[in-house]
Amino acid sequence: MRLYWKVVLINGVVLCLALLALVLGPMSVSRSTVASEVLVLAGGLAAILLTNALLLRSSLAPVDRVVRAMAYVDLTGPDGRLAAPPSGPGRSLVDGFNAMLDRLEEEQGTSNAKALAAQEAERHRIAQELHDEVGQHLTVVLLGLKQLEGQVPAAQAAEVAVLRESVRDGLDDVRRVARRLRPGVLEDLGLTSALAALTNDLGRHHPAEVRRVIAPGLPGLASDTELVVYRVAQEALTNAARHSRAKQVTLSLVRIGEGLVLEVADDGIGFDASTSGAGLRGMHERSRLVRGDLRITSRPGQGTTVRLAVPLAVGPS
Ligand SMILES: Nc1ncnc2c1ncn2[C@@H]1O[C@H](COP(=O)(O)OP(=O)(O)OP(=O)(O)O)[C@@H](O)[C@H]1O
Ligand SMILES: [Mg+2]
Repeated sequence: MRLYWKVVLINGVVLCLALLALVLGPMSVSRSTVASEVLVLAGGLAAILLTNALLLRSSLAPVDRVVRAMAYVDLTGPDGRLAAPPSGPGRSLVDGFNAMLDRLEEEQGTSNAKALAAQEAERHRIAQELHDEVGQHLTVVLLGLKQLEGQVPAAQAAEVAVLRESVRDGLDDVRRVARRLRPGVLEDLGLTSALAALTNDLGRHHPAEVRRVIAPGLPGLASDTELVVYRVAQEALTNAARHSRAKQVTLSLVRIGEGLVLEVADDGIGFDASTSGAGLRGMHERSRLVRGDLRITSRPGQGTTVRLAVPLAVGPS
């Protein structure tokens, strides 16, 4: 029964009872009402209002719960679904609200996946242009300088050699940036090898001891989730290398319950956790895209731990 009809029915029943009491009861109202009659009428009215309020309370309680839930529901937070009453119009209201959450979550998942794909496509394009255009130009300059070096007198040849070395460094930088923008290794070898490549890279370019703990035989993740884990690891390792002055950096990936947990921990100088930057924001945004739970724990002087928990792929992957 719809809520509207239930309210009408309750009011009707209460008014009929009041009418019956008036007809069958001993009381009467004089033309000029006396005080004792006013008391009886007031008592009757209070009884009607009270009965009505009590009967309506249970019927309208789900409305209040749904209104409150609608004001505070957060699709990225804990499950906001409500427990439905066993029957009555409140049940269909709560069921409707829960169905709306299902649909919103599904739509959010789809648009998150699109946002992630668009972001990656853009990175892909930039990587390609860096490699094909800037890279090619620098290669041409490098070859030209090499040739020039053999043609100029010895005094200038040394200067040309310095220039050539700096162009070579630039070319290496362009290639490295292009590689970072497009994690080909993730597509080719999978997440664990891609993470291993990241830590190896850090170990080669940074004085800190880099440790890696990746549990064997980890279950697969959805490809979006894999990409997010990779990008978060990449940013966390880069931050550790750039800012932490750590002696040791540890990356671990393990299964805990129905999810995988990535942790990048350093024993460096730490920072104020309320600090905000594009890199830290990006990690949070990406993690939200795949319903991950990202926590960054840090305090000045106490090192930093970035922990990302992501759900396992649902169904066959
Ligand atoms: N592991 C860490 N150890 C010490 N400080 C850190 C660490 N990670 C982040 N920080 C601090 O937090 C700040 C913000 O980090 P964030 O990654 O957002 O920006 P960034 O690394 O400076 O620049 P980018 O946008 O290129 O990542 C850093 O500038 C640094 O001061
Ligand atoms: Mg950063």
